[in-house]
Amino acid sequence: MKISYKQLVKIESKSWSLKKPKPHWAIDIEEGKVLYLESLQFKISKNEKKLFSHNILEPNTRNISLNADGSIKGAVGTEEDVKALKALILRFRNQATTLIFTAFPEYKPYLKLAPTSFRPLEVSDRVTSWRADDRRLHVDAFPSRPNYGERILRVFINVNPEGAPRVWRIGEPFSNIASKYLEKIKPYSYIYAKLIKFLGVTKSLRSEYDHIMIGLHDAMKSDMQYQKKSSQITMPFKPGTVWICFSDQASHAVMSGQYMMEQTFYLPVSKQYNPEKSPLSILSKLKKKDLI
Ligand code: SIN
Ligand code: FE
Repeated sequence: MKISYKQLVKIESKSWSLKKPKPHWAIDIEEGKVLYLESLQFKISKNEKKLFSHNILEPNTRNISLNADGSIKGAVGTEEDVKALKALILRFRNQATTLIFTAFPEYKPYLKLAPTSFRPLEVSDRVTSWRADDRRLHVDAFPSRPNYGERILRVFINVNPEGAPRVWRIGEPFSNIASKYLEKIKPYSYIYAKLIKFLGVTKSLRSEYDHIMIGLHDAMKSDMQYQKKSSQITMPFKPGTVWICFSDQASHAVMSGQYMMEQTFYLPVSKQYNPEKSPLSILSKLKKKDLI
């Protein structure tokens, strides 16, 4: 299947609380599409303007994150600055939560809130290893935190105060990626999974599902031909734009942009509207076995 702008679905709403959710939004997001809204209000107060500087970031850190318990990591500055930063991130967290609860009401009782991040660095001049380079198309997978198929639902907002877009590439559907790379991923080893758990590399035992997801992430990022030639679109998300996707399924890359916030939620596969659309189900079918 070729990718087209159908991979992007626009939601028209001026309010973070969606009055009449359309049933197709859940179908779309569970098929790996990216949903976006361009008319939501997110006011940055005069007082908050000074937070838009990389000086607010601890040296050698990429993001600032606000944990579910209200503690903040990665920020430096006066007590007043940090307080203002917390309030800004919390405001986004609350609005992102309202958006997700109203867009997908059936997820609501089952979502788990992960930390909220503020990303003040310019993406295009970041220096990283190929594996950590999010300018390459990939699906999200956690090397140290096995998730056994649990879904990674993310809400992003571009809060750039100077008008710069956050430029994303969006790649082909997950099933194409799985079919292309699955046979190239080295076989799962239970002994190796035990070893890396013992060494503290992973927080719990890496399942075969987690092994494959990391394998797909790495296979995509390390394949420069694929990066250039695979079916993809470019989408410059303008400041003020909010977008949502299952980032473990929607192939994505960020090419440029500065100042973004992101909220992650975890969702059990069984609580999707259509669990058979999940990466876990797609991969299990292709492998003809249970992976967790
Ligand atoms: C990513 O999840 O790959 C990064 C997205 C972004 O920073 O825009
Ligand atoms: Fe990513």
